[in-house]
Amino acid sequence: MIFSRIVATGSALPARAVSNVELAQTVDTSDEWIRSRSGIGQRYLAGAGETTSSLATTAAKRALAAAGWQPDDLDLIIVATTTPDMTFPSTACIVQAALGVTNQTAAFDIQAVCSGFVYAVASADALIRAGTAKRALVIGAETLSRIIDWGDRGTCVLFGDGAGCVLLEAAAEPGILGCHLHADGRQIGMLNAPGVLANGRVSGHPYIQMDGQAVFKFAVEALAATALETLAAHGMNGEDIDWLVPHQANIRIIRSTARRLGMPMERVVTTVVEHGNTSAASIPLALDVAVRDGRIQRGQTLLMEGIGAGFAWGSVLARF
Ligand code: ACO
Repeated sequence: MIFSRIVATGSALPARAVSNVELAQTVDTSDEWIRSRSGIGQRYLAGAGETTSSLATTAAKRALAAAGWQPDDLDLIIVATTTPDMTFPSTACIVQAALGVTNQTAAFDIQAVCSGFVYAVASADALIRAGTAKRALVIGAETLSRIIDWGDRGTCVLFGDGAGCVLLEAAAEPGILGCHLHADGRQIGMLNAPGVLANGRVSGHPYIQMDGQAVFKFAVEALAATALETLAAHGMNGEDIDWLVPHQANIRIIRSTARRLGMPMERVVTTVVEHGNTSAASIPLALDVAVRDGRIQRGQTLLMEGIGAGFAWGSVLARF
């Protein structure tokens, strides 16, 4: 049987970090309100010249260097993003060119908002297990700051920009142990950015809007359910997991999931305080931080889980 395994990780952040205190100079908010409601202390915001593809490309180069791979070793590139550089072509094709890949490898984007990275890993894993690909680059990358209404304090304090990625390779042993994906399109109204380009202009509200409390309640239930579902499918419980690497939306949602799994916060990777919510980038960013600082070690068992607008959510169980 063919499986896929994580060979290396990478990440990238914009140059500029904006603290809650700095944000409160232009938005009617406070460090105390943001920290107590979300756990966020700062976020990185893309400046001129920093794009979703440039952050994704930097993250990919770091992962390729860690693996000792060349760009043409790749035969699949998937970018999960809600904030592509342009309507088309895909950000994955832009990243492919920026990396200098010349072997006409498959490249496409996935749009599953904050659960995009989980969806992208599940897709790459399936293509590798089917024998379609052998070496995949899977990226979550966002410049969410460009679809935020900076006059809406209910949303603008929560989000940030960044990119993270993994390299997956075909292997005789897993690797990725299992993936579970879900969506409930009836929840479109809870969280969305409905504007589209139509007839040469933006049609509809172009910024993120949400019912924060409804999102909170839905996320807490769905994340716990998918985590427990994935563990049950593998005859595991929270004690069998070395690291929970959750979507970094809100420390209170993360704590709630950890509690439901019976996991102490010492075994949960949290970067929400430094990064804010970077949507599809948040899980691979957190993963890369914990791999590079030595917390996550080879042979350990990881549970990654994400949720976002749609609603769409899911989890990936992996042996690192
Ligand atoms: N600064 C100061 N006050 C604020 C701010 C702000 N940035 N934003 C809202 N307030 C005020 C509100 O106006 C309200 O004032 P009022 O009582 O006078 O009307 C008060 O704070 C309380 O507002 P609530 O919305 O009830 O605050 P709550 O405790 O629910 O926290 C929050 C809001 C942080 C958005 C919370 O609901 C949440 O985290 N929800 C999840 C949202 C989320 O994670 N979204 C990310 C995308 S989805 C995903 O990634 C899973």
